[in-house]
Amino acid sequence: MARDAVAEVRERTDIVELVGGYVQLNRAGRSYKGLCPFHQEKTPSFIVFPDSQNFHCFGCGKGGDAFTFYMGVEHTEFRDALQELARRAGVELASAPTVAPEVDAHRRRLIELNELAATFFANVLHNSQAGAPGRETIERRGLSPEVVERFRLGFAPDSWDGLLRFLGSRGHDAALAAEAGLLSARDAGGHYDRFRGRLMFPIRTRDGEVVGFGGRIVGEGQPKYLNSPQSAIFDKSSLVYGLDVAREEVRRRDQVVIVEGYMDALAAHQFGHANVVAAMGTALTEKQVGQIKRLSKHIVLALDADAAGQMATVRGLETMRDALDHDDVAVPDARGIIHFERKLKAEIAIVSLPEGKDPDELIRRSPESWPEVVASARPFLEFLVDAVAGGVNPDDARAKAEAVARLAPVLRQVGDRVVMAHHVSRLAAKLQLDERLVLSEVRRGELKAAAPVTRGGRPAVARRASPEDHLLAVLLRHRDSCGDVLERVPEEDVLDGRNRELLRVLRDPALAPLDADGIVAGLSEEIADHAERLLASLDGKPEQFLGQVRREAEQALDALGKERFLTLMRGLQADIREAQRTGDAATLAELSTRLYDLSDRHRRFYPPPSPYFRDSRDTKAPA
Ligand code: UTP
Ligand code: MN
Repeated sequence: MARDAVAEVRERTDIVELVGGYVQLNRAGRSYKGLCPFHQEKTPSFIVFPDSQNFHCFGCGKGGDAFTFYMGVEHTEFRDALQELARRAGVELASAPTVAPEVDAHRRRLIELNELAATFFANVLHNSQAGAPGRETIERRGLSPEVVERFRLGFAPDSWDGLLRFLGSRGHDAALAAEAGLLSARDAGGHYDRFRGRLMFPIRTRDGEVVGFGGRIVGEGQPKYLNSPQSAIFDKSSLVYGLDVAREEVRRRDQVVIVEGYMDALAAHQFGHANVVAAMGTALTEKQVGQIKRLSKHIVLALDADAAGQMATVRGLETMRDALDHDDVAVPDARGIIHFERKLKAEIAIVSLPEGKDPDELIRRSPESWPEVVASARPFLEFLVDAVAGGVNPDDARAKAEAVARLAPVLRQVGDRVVMAHHVSRLAAKLQLDERLVLSEVRRGELKAAAPVTRGGRPAVARRASPEDHLLAVLLRHRDSCGDVLERVPEEDVLDGRNRELLRVLRDPALAPLDADGIVAGLSEEIADHAERLLASLDGKPEQFLGQVRREAEQALDALGKERFLTLMRGLQADIREAQRTGDAATLAELSTRLYDLSDRHRRFYPPPSPYFRDSRDTKAPA
């Protein structure tokens, strides 16, 4: 995509006009105000800034530029937003569409064949003698006519050529129908029906196009479910069963529940829980989560009790950044200046169902208890820590080591240090290990991962030390000139056990005569290693004057304070949004008190740097 085309569209789009097409805006000073289209509200907290061509909602926190807005209200991807806004702005996009027209036409034909087959199967189910076993199954499973209709269930007759003849009579080519996943080819030439004697579940895209089927055997037999084969239109890893039907409700409730089976999803819908979709019988993929999270970032996975099943579905999540908290993304603003925004990624929570029950049974037995079951979901990482550490005998040293080794790479990916510390501390408690030890295991790989190695010929980007590491590095090297900063560091904000130990040593009056090398020499091996790395991170800096050193220490402390403040603030804001959503007034009141406490705490622990440090380039720092 041509970069300048994006810039040109952005330039020629007036965000006030764009937003005005969806939201009634009123002028408020230099900006415009209206009711937020992204969340329910009665008083306007949605602001559009014509100067920067940005918008921001102070209620739900959504914000961005014209593209972000369009993608949000229309639930489209960047490509589509660009295309539409370009059209409106009269900008010609030079680059060709990614799908060549002839490929697209071919896909369309395959989808049409599947649509036609769905009609055929539904007709057999409802209107023919051959559909009797299907009708019996539906009756026995207690599926309502409404849900059968909404999901367009059908029946494939128990015959080798039912669909084959039907398609032939309509003049369709058997080879093409085979490519569409509906027929199979005989070795000797010719084709036969792939689905025979099965209750048919059409599998549709988010937009409702039938791209394949799941067929459940009605009697005994194998396999229980036969699915369409992988093809140009049917890609199991990117489909979510029922998303087309559930999408409105998912958006409205701002939550999606994923169950394992087709039947489970149908039961949920039948009993009024229409924000439920089904996975496709495999581990959840990033593509599936990607589709879902465009509708809602609150994802609940309802898995059956058997632990193996749980892990199978969850497996992929470990490597999915989506499952893990926040991520920093670069957002260019209207003037093309890049800033980093912390985007809330999908929040995946997991509920394990009672032993031996699938949602289908559970919902049919007591439909009213389902919301409670969903509400008992635990955050993904908590679930994972429990699942991995749960079965470990605290006397078994090797098993403990394995559990830590297995979880360390996952915990390492958690962007937010406070969140990471929370899970580390839970893990340590479960395994009866020292928290600092677990943290250092997690961190160890982190340093390795951050080491400037060249991979695949691309120069690795050197990563900046965390504010915490940087502060300790400066204090260690220049303790003599930074005594007052050293005293002010709030110990509880230092999360790395090694840094906390360093802080203790640096503050120890008995060790005051030692310089950095002397201090490092007296540390235990693990902490000494860490201290060496901290000192090395300062290497290559030009010699500094006393004033510069102090200012750097002040700034490092300030940066730590900002990071901690933002983290706590973000957590609190998320809780507040949740309380607003559920209308929980008591919690809301308690949370706003904590909001004030938090600002108080920040002012107390991190007062603005004294002006004294701002302009003292006088004396040279002692070596
Ligand atoms: P289940 O066996 O739990 O299916 O498999 P279910 O939908 O609850 O069906 P009932 O209640 O036994 O009739 C869960 C999902 O795994 C996939 C299907 O997507 C199914 O819905 N699956 C299962 C297959 O693809 N093939 C199989 O042979 C079995
Ligand atoms: Mn079932």
